[in-house]
Amino acid sequence: MPTMRAYNRTALQTDNRCWERRAVGKVIAVANQKGGSGKTTTVRSLSAALAELGRRVLMVDMDPQGSLTEGCGVRPYDLQSSIYHVILGRCRMADVLLEVEPQLHLAPTNIHLAAAELQLVPATRREDKLRQALRPVRDAYDYILIDCPPSFGLLTVNCLSAADSVLIPMTCDYYTMLGVRLLLETVDDIQREVNPSLVLEGLLPTRFDTRTLHAREILEQTKVALGPRLRIFEPVIRESVRFKEAPIRAQSILTYAATSDGANAYRSLAKEIDDGQAHFGA
Ligand SMILES: Nc1ncnc2c1ncn2[C@@H]1O[C@H](COP(=O)(O)OP(=O)(O)O)[C@@H](O)[C@H]1O
Ligand SMILES: [Mg+2]
Repeated sequence: MPTMRAYNRTALQTDNRCWERRAVGKVIAVANQKGGSGKTTTVRSLSAALAELGRRVLMVDMDPQGSLTEGCGVRPYDLQSSIYHVILGRCRMADVLLEVEPQLHLAPTNIHLAAAELQLVPATRREDKLRQALRPVRDAYDYILIDCPPSFGLLTVNCLSAADSVLIPMTCDYYTMLGVRLLLETVDDIQREVNPSLVLEGLLPTRFDTRTLHAREILEQTKVALGPRLRIFEPVIRESVRFKEAPIRAQSILTYAATSDGANAYRSLAKEIDDGQAHFGA
C-alpha cells in the first residue's frame, strides 16, 4: 500500500526576508516527450537534493497523470484545488501549495489538468498561463522545477514558456535518443516564438544500465552528436530499484536510500546546477 500523507497548506512568504542569493527563483522545466525517461523521478530527487543544500524549492506537477503528486503521498482525487484551477485562473498558485518537506513545496495536480489542454485553446495568451501563475510566488523560492507531461501539447508549451532552462532526462536507448533531437527542435521553436530567454540546462542520462553495451554505445553517440550543443551531466543516473520503491513510501531517494549511488548522483547534479547558478537573477 502506498503511504498517503495529509500535508498542510503552506503559509507562503512572498516577501524577500529569506532572499540573499538571488532576486528571483530559477525555473527549470524537466522535459522529454517520451514517457518513462525519468522526468518525475528527476524532479522529485533533484528538488530534494536542492532542498538538502538549503535551497527553497517548489515542484510543479504539470503532468495530468499526477505521478509526482502521488509519489509525494497526496491522493490526486482528494484535492479541492490543484494546478488545474490555477492554470484556468480559478485560484492563485499560493492557494494550492503543499509543504512536502521543510523547504520543499508541491503544486499538485490530477487528471482534470488534461481538460485544460482543450479549455485553454480559445484563451488569449494561452501559452503564458503557467508563467503568469508563477510570477507572484517566484520570490519565495530559489528553484522551481516543473514536471512536464510526456507530449508536445499546450501544457508542455506552457511549461517551456514559463521556464528559464530545460533539463532533459534521457534513458540510453536508441529511440529515446532520436526523440531528444525532436525535443531540441521544439525548444528552438519555443525560443523563437514564445520565450527567447529559454536556455538548455543540459541532458541527464537516466536509468543507465552499466551491464549493457547498448546503453554505453548510446551514451557515447549522444556525447558525440549532442555534446557540442548541450551539457551532458555526470555522473549518469544508474538503474536502481530504490527509485521505484521510494515513491511508494512517499519519499525521495534522498531519504529512502540516503547513502545510495542514486541519491549521491542527484546530490552531485544539484550541486553542479546550484554552483553554476550562484549569481542567477542577481
Ligand atoms: N534510475 C532509475 N532506476 C530505476 N528505475 C527508475 C529510475 N528512474 C526512474 N525509474 C522508474 O522508471 C519509471 C519511469 O520513471 P519516471 O520518472 O516516472 O519517468 P517519466 O516521468 O519521464 O515518465 C518509474 O517507475 C520510476 O520509478
Ligand atoms: Mg512523469
